[in-house]
Amino acid sequence: MDISTIKQELETEIVRITSFSELEELRNKYLGRKGILNQLTGAIPSLPKEERASAGQAVNAFKERINSLIQEKEKELKRPSQESVVPSVDIGMPGITQGLGRLHPITQIIDEICGIFVRMGFSVIEGPEVENEFNNFTGLNIALDHPSRDVFDTFYLKYQQKLLLRSHTSPVQIRVMRSEKPPLAVVVPGKVYRPDASDASHSFMFHQVEGFMVDDDIRFSDLKGMLEVFAKGVFGENIKMRFRPHFFPFTEPSVEVDISCIICGGKGCSVCGRKGWLEILGAGMIHPNVFKNVGYPKDKYTGFAFGMGVERIAMLKYGIDDIRLFFENDLRFLKQF
Ligand code: PHE
Repeated sequence: MDISTIKQELETEIVRITSFSELEELRNKYLGRKGILNQLTGAIPSLPKEERASAGQAVNAFKERINSLIQEKEKELKRPSQESVVPSVDIGMPGITQGLGRLHPITQIIDEICGIFVRMGFSVIEGPEVENEFNNFTGLNIALDHPSRDVFDTFYLKYQQKLLLRSHTSPVQIRVMRSEKPPLAVVVPGKVYRPDASDASHSFMFHQVEGFMVDDDIRFSDLKGMLEVFAKGVFGENIKMRFRPHFFPFTEPSVEVDISCIICGGKGCSVCGRKGWLEILGAGMIHPNVFKNVGYPKDKYTGFAFGMGVERIAMLKYGIDDIRLFFENDLRFLKQF
């Protein structure tokens, strides 16, 4: 009985094993019912008497050897291999690029408009979207029976009838003038709310940029000059500007400001309704009652104010025909800016 060759065979076999199923096969081959060990044990009685004892010892030693080799292999297979500890990163693979975002077109236009006024010395100030009636109406000389005060024209807060979603950015005039003394030069970007059914040109929420300047001797010509710098900055040097008389309770005199149509250059087309002009904002000289309402001394200051709809400016500048596009978050639209 030559155990040593069988033993050698076992040692080379076990080194090659890489899985538990292979190890199980090997265990069966050597220790199974019809396995090599049982065959060896079964052969002992047929040996010459004097050899039986040493053969029995050799078989036992071999059995121990098999068991310890299998145990060792089991441990080795359980140990996490070097490969599975180190995360398998293929540094040769191309990375996953994160697309770079950009500012919403409305934010871009607000920055552009405010930037023009900041370069003329204005400060940018924001106010709250929930306002009280005084700042939104009363302080601005808007009469108690004015239609804009109606519940159909303004969002009042359900449980607090004195609070509302501001219907314009003008209340920030009141806030600033009540806390600061002139000289003032301020622009106010922000959201405003009116309960309009939404269609191509209406939205219940939109953006305005308000602007105002107050000092001892601010004149209508200052308003004209600064609005011209603004309009040419946004729409180009070639546009013309005109002022039409209008009415706002908080300015006197009041105007609406038009620019020559940027599509037809003033000849008349479908965008300007054949008029050749596009309305871009409302403005005027701040009404003496407003100064009185904020507690400024009588006849001490003069000032101008203006307010524009940002979506309208953006639509005219980029030729967009539906205001809803700004709020639908369709990337095909937003990516163009
Ligand atoms: N607040 C006015 C509006 O929303 C715009 C405006 C502002 C007009 C300032 C004159 C002066 O229609």
